[in-house]
Amino acid sequence: MALKIAVLASGSGSNLQSIIDAVERGALDAEISLVLCNRSDAFALERAKKAGIPTATILHAEYENREAFDAAMIERIESAGAELVVLAGFMRILTPLFIQTFAGKIINIHPALLPSFKGAHGIADAVEYGVTLAGCTVHFVDEIMDNGAIIAQAVVPFSSEESVETVQKRVLAFEHRIYPQVLQWIASGRVTQNGRKVTVQETGLPKVTSDGSFIVSPQLEDGF
Ligand code: GRF
Repeated sequence: MALKIAVLASGSGSNLQSIIDAVERGALDAEISLVLCNRSDAFALERAKKAGIPTATILHAEYENREAFDAAMIERIESAGAELVVLAGFMRILTPLFIQTFAGKIINIHPALLPSFKGAHGIADAVEYGVTLAGCTVHFVDEIMDNGAIIAQAVVPFSSEESVETVQKRVLAFEHRIYPQVLQWIASGRVTQNGRKVTVQETGLPKVTSDGSFIVSPQLEDGF
């Protein structure tokens, strides 16, 4: 049976789109039962509506505090029957109440090779720091921001002459491949978490992608 997911987004929703596309082309056995946004101008809402996915807009500014906002989100996510909460550019810090309610069932994508460059400006911070390998990380969410156990990472090289925008585009292109792939691993019951260690069953050893410019671990499968 398809894994029921709720996708939480605050902005453009290009990662949401990559998940919608993976479901539509039959690579991902999931049903997006809800797209929840905390901003009414989030383009993610348009993408969801176009795909016929139920949406909810819960404006954080209308709640007295983070707990009340999170309680409203919890109610909506539970009533959608979601089994997994997928953060895709959701720009709010979640309370322990939210994280405990969905313990082990929240994942996030971060545009850096964690544990480096946590926070809201992962790519700009990496470029500023002068590293030569950028990337992205899909991880479980725990109570500390960008800290949870790592499921998959993609390494994206860049040169010091390239702008933050160029690196951002290149990393995003890889986010759009690894996030749906991780979801498919979870949907097919192949992901187990044991503390900080995550095992994905039956995956190949990491290898350089066919165009030679990226490394993804674990290896991407056909369709991603
Ligand atoms: C991505 O860079 C993601 O890594 C980060 O937020 C951004 C969301 O982009 N968590 P989009 O809204 O999916 O286009």
